[in-house]
Amino acid sequence: MAVIAVYSPKGGVGKTTLSVDLAWRCSMLGKHRTLLWDLDVQGGAAYLLGVNTEPRLRAAGVFQREGRPDQLIEPTIYPGLSLLSADDSLRALPLHLARLGQRRRLAVLAQSLQRDFDRVVLDCPPMQGEVSDQILAAADVLIVPLPASPLASRALDLLRRDMLRVHGRHPPLLPVLSMYDVRRKGHRIAREGRMSAFPVIPQSSLIEQTAFRRAPIGTFAPNTEAAQSMDRLWRAIEVKLWEERAVG
Ligand SMILES: Nc1ncnc2c1ncn2[C@@H]1O[C@H](COP(=O)(O)OP(=O)(O)OP(=O)(O)O)[C@@H](O)[C@H]1O
Ligand SMILES: [Mg+2]
Repeated sequence: MAVIAVYSPKGGVGKTTLSVDLAWRCSMLGKHRTLLWDLDVQGGAAYLLGVNTEPRLRAAGVFQREGRPDQLIEPTIYPGLSLLSADDSLRALPLHLARLGQRRRLAVLAQSLQRDFDRVVLDCPPMQGEVSDQILAAADVLIVPLPASPLASRALDLLRRDMLRVHGRHPPLLPVLSMYDVRRKGHRIAREGRMSAFPVIPQSSLIEQTAFRRAPIGTFAPNTEAAQSMDRLWRAIEVKLWEERAVG
C-alpha cells in the first residue's frame, strides 16, 4: 500500500483538483483499490467527485485513540474508488493531534487500511504545523503543486527542510508546476530556472470545469492536453513509488 499526499504550503494551487483526479486514475486506470481521504475542512474532494455529504462531525474523531477510519469510508460511483470525506470537526484537528501527542498518528491510521486499499490519496489543507508534520510522516510520496513563481520555489526549499526534520532522509517529493500559463512571461521565466524539470499541469478551462461538472476530466475530456498532463503526472507518481520501493 502506498500513501500519496497532495500537499503544498500554498493555498488555491490545485491540490484538491489534483487529488481527485489522481485518485480517480489510481482506481480506474491503475486498477488499484483506492481511498481518497479529505483532510481539509473545506470538504472539496467529495464535492468534486459529485458526492453530497451529510452534515456530521466525525472526521476528526478518527484521530482519537479509539478512532476507526474504516467506519467513515464510503464507496463512490467509480469502481475501486472510496472516499473518507471531511467535515467541520477537522477545524479542531491540530488540537486533537497535539493532545494525543502521537507524531505518527496519521501514518498509523493510513497503514491500518492496507488490507483494504492499495493507494491512499490524501487531499491536504494548506497549513503548516502539527497537521503538515503528520502528513509528511505518513506520505510515501509527496506531490507538491506550486505556482510558477520565485516565491513558490522558496516555499519548496522550506518544505524540503521540514521533510528532512520529520523524515530524517532525502524526501520522496515530486514538485508540480501547477496552473502554468505559457502566455505569461513570469511563468515562462520561472519555468526556465530550477522548475524546468517539474511536471506541468496547465492553466486550463477544462480542468476548471471539473468543479462545475463535479467529475474528473478523464470522464468528459480524456483526449485533451489537460487530461494528458494529469495522466503524465499520475504515471510519474507510479514510477516514483516503484523507485522508492526498489531503493527501500
Ligand atoms: N490547472 C487548473 N487550471 C485552471 N483552474 C484550475 C486548475 N486547477 C485548479 N483550478 C481551479 O482553481 C481553484 C482552486 O483549485 P483547488 O481547490 O483544487 O485548489 P487547492 O490548492 O485545493 O485550494 P485550497 O488551498 O483552498 O485547498 C478551483 O476553482 C479549481 O477549479
Ligand atoms: Mg483544497
